[in-house]
Amino acid sequence: MKTILVTGGAGFIGSNFVHHALGSRADSGPWKLVNVDLLTYAGNLDSLEGADRDRHELIQADINDGKQIRALLDRHQPSAIVHFAAESHVDRSIDDAASFIRTNVQGTQVLLEAALDYWKTGTCNAFRFLHVSTDEVYGDLAVDDPAFTEQTPYQPSSPYAASKAAADHLVRAWHRTFGLPVLITNCSNNYGPRQFPEKLIPLMMINALHGRALPVYGDGQQRRDWLHVDDHCRALMAVLNRGEPGRTYNIGGNAERDNLTVVQAICDLLDQRAPEGFSLDQPRRELIEFVTDRPGHDRRYAINAGRIEQELGWRPQMKFEVGLEHTIDWYLNNAQWWQRIQSGAYRESSREGYSGERLGTRSGQAA
Ligand code: NAD
Ligand code: TYD
Repeated sequence: MKTILVTGGAGFIGSNFVHHALGSRADSGPWKLVNVDLLTYAGNLDSLEGADRDRHELIQADINDGKQIRALLDRHQPSAIVHFAAESHVDRSIDDAASFIRTNVQGTQVLLEAALDYWKTGTCNAFRFLHVSTDEVYGDLAVDDPAFTEQTPYQPSSPYAASKAAADHLVRAWHRTFGLPVLITNCSNNYGPRQFPEKLIPLMMINALHGRALPVYGDGQQRRDWLHVDDHCRALMAVLNRGEPGRTYNIGGNAERDNLTVVQAICDLLDQRAPEGFSLDQPRRELIEFVTDRPGHDRRYAINAGRIEQELGWRPQMKFEVGLEHTIDWYLNNAQWWQRIQSGAYRESSREGYSGERLGTRSGQAA
């Protein structure tokens, strides 16, 4: 059985990737997963419930701990590293960028050093380092601009995007200078089960369910290209198994929507589906409040995913409106998952470092 060392596998995309890789639909399996996660506020052991214990091991560790990472590589001899670990929320990066530089930039460098050292031992011939990045490195687009390709120059706007751009450059440099077989993916906004409720879709869903204000930044006309997390996991498997080392792949959902439209769709779905005890005497769209815009807010992202489609045969399968319905249903059917985040109980099994941070938004509304 081949082993993948995953970093950040207790977060949103990482935990979905763990479930995907352990499932029967995963390419080139069966896989064993070694999941290295610091369990910051964004890491959640609840998200790993149901993962087959014989094939999945969680190790609470910091990617900045090069010695421990190197030892784990020796012990588990993975054929790949899939690197998700990051600070991922733009608003937090505006409030305090330091942890973003520490994990996203320095942590990636430490991981690259450890991976290079391990790869040079020749333990695993077909070793691959897959770096999971974002479309935000490209900056934003005007309404009529063509979508981002892999050749679009980097022009990050937020401290988060800048830290991911820096990490991408490091990964590329480790390929060019040292020959490390790396792959880079730049993906658009993900949505789906197990997303921390500081991000747009789960935050709005939980606030709308409770009849609380829905803080839309600025005029709500910013556009994002939404991709269901399951489609992202399938794309990552395709790149891992069939991608060409040294190459970058853009991944997108072909589902550009403005924020206001997304929030209105969530409101309408909840008007139809909210369970007993959660009905309101007003349409939920009336909860929408336009609040002060995010500084440096990117207007539009759009992905040209032609390369991964043509070279690796991947295409998104989930239509946005269907995926959004499934996602709302998941949050309704798994209320305990987000209620344990709201109460802080989700951190009980990993108390170290718990700072009891509030879930919220720039305007202060808590989820
Ligand atoms: P997330 O914030 O939900 O999860 C991040 C995980 O990394 C958490 O489990 C956290 O505990 C862990 N982590 C943080 N610092 C760490 C450290 N120093 N050492 C070890 N683990 C650490 O993030 P996500 O939304 O799942 O994103 C995963 C990756 O995908 C990130 O690299 C992000 O930049 C990228 N990405 C995200 C999106 C998106 O829409 N969410 C889109 C494209 C790319
Ligand atoms: P977010 O989920 O934070 O992802 P990203 O900033 O990485 O794209 O935000 C998605 C969009 O939604 C973004 O344009 C900012 C906007 N937004 C709001 O309008 N209100 C909110 O409360 C949040 C969290 C986001």
